[in-house]
Amino acid sequence: MCGISMPKILIVYYSHTENTEKMAKAIAEGARTVQQVEVELKRHESPWRLANFDAVLIGAPTYHHNMTNSTKNFLEEVAFHSINLKDKIGAAFGSYGWSGEAPRLVLEIMKNKFEMQVIEPPLLLKYAPDQAGLEKCREFGKQIADKLMLQT
Ligand SMILES: Cc1cc2nc3c(=O)[nH]c(=O)nc-3n(C[C@H](O)[C@H](O)[C@H](O)COP(=O)(O)O)c2cc1C
Repeated sequence: MCGISMPKILIVYYSHTENTEKMAKAIAEGARTVQQVEVELKRHESPWRLANFDAVLIGAPTYHHNMTNSTKNFLEEVAFHSINLKDKIGAAFGSYGWSGEAPRLVLEIMKNKFEMQVIEPPLLLKYAPDQAGLEKCREFGKQIADKLMLQT
């Protein structure tokens, strides 16, 4: 945890056709049901702010069997500036169509490069999330917030 303040979760996501965005919003909703956890939901974030959070969740849709350039650039900047994410909770999610590599790739980087404590498996939903999918997102968010509370 960072100091004596409330545990903080950052959800940062990229989304071209709003499917991953809908997931991100539902994950934030689920995490916010846990009292005393602060949740920030962002489309963009500066790498330096990551140090302020106890958990970082990245939403990454799959395009061309990969994460988008915006996601890639963001992770590269975090690495380039040596932002210390060691032992923070890391999780990844994203909408996909048929192969869904992006969240898995993000999670690998979180685990192997940033040495984060990752939540496996990542949460993947096909195309636009339906009601059941949104519920899975809420549970995913709540599960991470609960884990964070247990660690504090
Ligand atoms: C040009 C293009 C390439 C895509 N490539 C892949 C792919 O390689 N694998 C996959 O699982 N889905 C692929 N998709 C499907 C997207 O992941 C899917 O539409 C997803 O819902 C997009 O999420 P977003 O609305 O958050 O951007 C592709 C979609 C487009 C338009």
